[in-house]
Amino acid sequence: MPRWVANAVSGCYRLTRSQHSRRIQFLEKGRPRSPVEREAPISDATRTLFVPKTKQDYGDNPIDVRETDTYVTEYVRGFVEKWDELIDWSQRAKSEGRFFIDVLKARNKKSVLDVATGTGFHSVQLLKAGFDVTSVDGSAEMLAKAFENGCQHHVVLKTTHADWRWLNKGVKGKFDAIICLGNSFTHLFDENDRRRALAEFYAALKHDGILILDQRNYDRILDEGFASKHKYYYCGDQVVAEPVHVDEGLARFEYVFPDGSRHNLNMFPLRKNYTRKLLRQAGFQQIHSYGDFQEEGEETDPDFFIHVAEKSYGTN
Ligand SMILES: C[S@@+](CC[C@H](N)C(=O)[O-])C[C@H]1O[C@@H](n2cnc3c(N)ncnc32)[C@H](O)[C@@H]1O
Repeated sequence: MPRWVANAVSGCYRLTRSQHSRRIQFLEKGRPRSPVEREAPISDATRTLFVPKTKQDYGDNPIDVRETDTYVTEYVRGFVEKWDELIDWSQRAKSEGRFFIDVLKARNKKSVLDVATGTGFHSVQLLKAGFDVTSVDGSAEMLAKAFENGCQHHVVLKTTHADWRWLNKGVKGKFDAIICLGNSFTHLFDENDRRRALAEFYAALKHDGILILDQRNYDRILDEGFASKHKYYYCGDQVVAEPVHVDEGLARFEYVFPDGSRHNLNMFPLRKNYTRKLLRQAGFQQIHSYGDFQEEGEETDPDFFIHVAEKSYGTN
């Protein structure tokens, strides 16, 4: 008899022989397993519980789906695996250049909270540039992919699974900067959620911290229809990304991949001045909006806006 079983039954001398053997059988059930036994296959029941969905499901009327929580089920495994085809890391790195690094360095920022990590593009770029990055996302599926991408780029991501609306419950400490990039803020459908998320971002920043938040040029999409130079952000030329429905409360995009697979995202079309107003009302004192990485006014018809919002009144 192994010593741990003997020790466990040592107080049982008053038991009958059959009681004794039943007790040993009971204890055997809880004994430590050998590595081989521990690697037993996962049952189907467990698999369904823990392995995420692979198909998006918007129900019978997809354009009715306008809830903030939708993002969690939109980034299903099949889509996440293809996301990097859509954004093409090397093209994106070329088109963005040093923009974010320069904005952060010019303000002497060192610790960065990437609240919309996605598959990790900006977390990896900033880690490589020497910033202290913490990577957050509300989609566990995205974070897993980001961590894997980090390993491939020889960096280890510090990841935290958290929703922006409760950010400071999951993330401790204050940061020099927060980035919310890749048109992510558009996932919030309810104005209260937008205000809550911005208040959480504001609270997670040091007294002179900055928030860098970007968005599609929805004004143009709403007022003139969709056109994209496809030069920034979603640079993969193999993927067609276009809106299939647009109104003041919804921009539903469809992404068609080279293998014919299709995925969608339902997003709230943020007007530029509305986002700026929300940032100001959240407490940010200075807001500088760039168009496609150019100074305001230099790019008249950008695909994307990048807002740099500062807590302090200081210099720009
Ligand atoms: C469009 S992806 C962009 C990812 C990445 N920043 C990029 O540029 O490739 C948006 C990301 O924001 C995350 N997200 C959306 N709403 C969120 C929320 N309320 N809380 C936390 N993460 C959220 C999604 O899970 C997704 O990974």
